Amino acid sequence: MAALAGTGAPDVVDGTVRVPGDKSVSHRALMFSALAGGTSRVRGILQSDDVHSTARVLRALGWSVPDVSADMTIQGGGLASGLDAPRSRLDCGNSGTTTRLMAGIAAAQPFASTFEGDASLSRRPMRRVAAPLEAMGARVEFVAGHDGLPMTVHGGALRSVAWELPVASAQLKSAVLLAGLCAGVGVRVREPAPTRDHTERMLTARGVHVETLEDWVELQPTDRLAPRDVDVPGDPSSAAFFVARALLAGAGSLRVEGVLHSPFRDGFMRVVQRMGGRIDIARGADGAADVLVDLVVHGGSRLRGVQVGRDEVTAMIDEIPMLAVLAARAEGTTEVRGAEELRVKESDRIAAVVSNLRAIGVAAHELPDGLVVEGTDAPLEGQVRAHADHRIAMAFGILGATRGSRITIDDPACVSVSYPDFWTELKRVAR
Ligand code: S3P
Repeated sequence: MAALAGTGAPDVVDGTVRVPGDKSVSHRALMFSALAGGTSRVRGILQSDDVHSTARVLRALGWSVPDVSADMTIQGGGLASGLDAPRSRLDCGNSGTTTRLMAGIAAAQPFASTFEGDASLSRRPMRRVAAPLEAMGARVEFVAGHDGLPMTVHGGALRSVAWELPVASAQLKSAVLLAGLCAGVGVRVREPAPTRDHTERMLTARGVHVETLEDWVELQPTDRLAPRDVDVPGDPSSAAFFVARALLAGAGSLRVEGVLHSPFRDGFMRVVQRMGGRIDIARGADGAADVLVDLVVHGGSRLRGVQVGRDEVTAMIDEIPMLAVLAARAEGTTEVRGAEELRVKESDRIAAVVSNLRAIGVAAHELPDGLVVEGTDAPLEGQVRAHADHRIAMAFGILGATRGSRITIDDPACVSVSYPDFWTELKRVAR
């Protein structure tokens, strides 16, 4: 158990944080650079376990991907690269994005690939990605009666598809787009609600014709993906933790620099501003392809409870654990609805957040599709279980670092999935 800073510690935030590269963009930068016909340079990639998983799977499929580092040069193999069948199972670690996007790519290869992962990933639903790939002509095998990994994708020539996704998921949308891209066939995907558009934007930047019309995303067939240099923007999901840290502080302010600004990713910022959180947003230096912002977040904010509905959830899906923990220190009740997808993330995040809030003395309960949290200013103390989920560990780590909390977390090391320097940075920003 790791003890975190707690009751009595001074609680004034100060200084600047530059969060690591965006996880979604990092996965895609590696995949698309490997698939491109030519040399791409990738700077500022996230160096974390999940990104290592994508690099490992690409290598196991025969692409030449160097060690993940701050400045990478990647020789693409091209879309028709004549890969060989992998000699072993593809180990995706904890990463759902690696599994689902690479399943789309593997479906277009003329061999079978077996995906496996850690205990958490093995429990996550995968038939939802298998279904559109099978409609395109791939065959996907599971252990009888099981919806998770291991999953074997028997790839080959694919046909075009128009697929209506049952859930709003950028991973599923991307899997279909990548299967179409690698098979050289056009595809159309309908989303029940718009999700992060990194795949569409990054493929467009590499010369692929991808268009969104109403709620359909359409990819035109192509036989070439152009090489492209990528500057990975700061991750708004990692930034959310430090925004929360500053909002929970008694005084001071914190600057969070170089954060990707996207309407598909900034739901958390909008909701915490509605709660009364004081955040000044300044346009930062733009990256080659993205708008970046610097956030100046002020401590001493008085936060109020808030209602979050389905229409807001997709733009803050990974930030809801942090929002729910922040709500423990807001005045009144916070309710999140329309977030049942949280039950199939790295852990059941609704159950994990609620049980941990209760364990430290906060009144909270689960809803089938969300949760309710009652704010309190009483001291909060107790033991938290991360459920091997990086975002659960970080959300409670933030609360544990503030005055009036004394929290221990069973598995602080699991943050290496998305933010290896998290604990060091957290110590640095307060005095
Ligand atoms: C991601 C999509 C989201 C998100 C995940 C990253 C992506 O998952 O939760 O952390 O990079 O496409 P879903 O597609 O399952 O909603």
